Amino acid sequence: MLIAHRTAYLLSHRLCQIYRINPTSNMSLDSDKEAQIRHQRESELKRKAYRDMKEETRKVLKHARIETPTPEPDAVGLPRKRFYRQRAHSNPFSDHRLDYPQEPSCMEWQKLYPHYFDETTGTMSKNVEIADIGCGYGGLLIQLATAFPEKLSLGMEIRVQVTQYVEDRIIALREQNKDAEQYQNVAVLRGNAMKFTPNFFFKGQLSKMFFCFPDPHFKQRKHKARIITSTLLSEYAYVLREGGIIYTITDVEDLHKWMAKHLEEHPLFERKSVEWEKNDKCVQLMMNSTEEGQKVERNKGSKYVACFERLPTPEDCD
Ligand SMILES: C[S@@+](CC[C@H](N)C(=O)[O-])C[C@H]1O[C@@H](n2cnc3c(N)ncnc32)[C@H](O)[C@@H]1O
Repeated sequence: MLIAHRTAYLLSHRLCQIYRINPTSNMSLDSDKEAQIRHQRESELKRKAYRDMKEETRKVLKHARIETPTPEPDAVGLPRKRFYRQRAHSNPFSDHRLDYPQEPSCMEWQKLYPHYFDETTGTMSKNVEIADIGCGYGGLLIQLATAFPEKLSLGMEIRVQVTQYVEDRIIALREQNKDAEQYQNVAVLRGNAMKFTPNFFFKGQLSKMFFCFPDPHFKQRKHKARIITSTLLSEYAYVLREGGIIYTITDVEDLHKWMAKHLEEHPLFERKSVEWEKNDKCVQLMMNSTEEGQKVERNKGSKYVACFERLPTPEDCD
């Protein structure tokens, strides 16, 4: 028995020599894999612990007015993006068990913009006017706060952790700028713009809607998941006021053509000229401030812009 064992060992060793295989390579492969899995698990635990710590602050400060005392000065620092990363795509058709108001009048905006809530009348002194749809990590949204200090801007984002990152970013910025009372006019909510936009906004409430670097859904059978389609454009036209603007930007030429074609074909939208784009401050903002836009810039990619004005609704349609 022992001899048979030894012979088998010598034989396998010889075969390894012939085929130049390291006899312990499988073992080391296994332990490499185990180490990798252990490392991934440890990193995920670390990321989760960080997010849990931030969640404590978020619970206290998310809906807080300026005068609310800060719990832990350190905990209100700007969040670190790497702790919130999440896989790139979220299926817009799946049931995410999202919170959404039954109709716009049921929306509790004071929770997102507590500074603009008038306690004596129980009403908001301003309504959301600018929406950044699929705001990602919030680069544009944060810029909108100071570019339009008189207006309320909202980011709508479908991914949980990405939304939490933006929430924590806004909390930190509000804390750090509380003397100047800045960033009270921006907020983010987790929502699926393809399903619930008219639940959040009244007819004609918005003056600007941004669609920056939307998911391209390259395959033809996935085109229906694109955030701009003829049907969705009618919903966007409903919540946009006459003269309001839809801004689109992407680095995918095919998607740019798709968005421009659908908007051009829609009777309630008209394309703005290149000259107009050059002079519009929002075009400049969306070119450079979003995280995707900055990535495209680093990789020296192209950016395609198309902006459309919401036309007056024909009288017989009102
Ligand atoms: C490629 S990223 C661009 C993010 C950001 N606009 C930028 O330019 O950096 C597209 C974002 O849209 C979000 N998104 C996709 N479908 C959505 C939907 N139906 N409603 C809200 N957000 C959505 C994704 O989760 C993702 O964060």
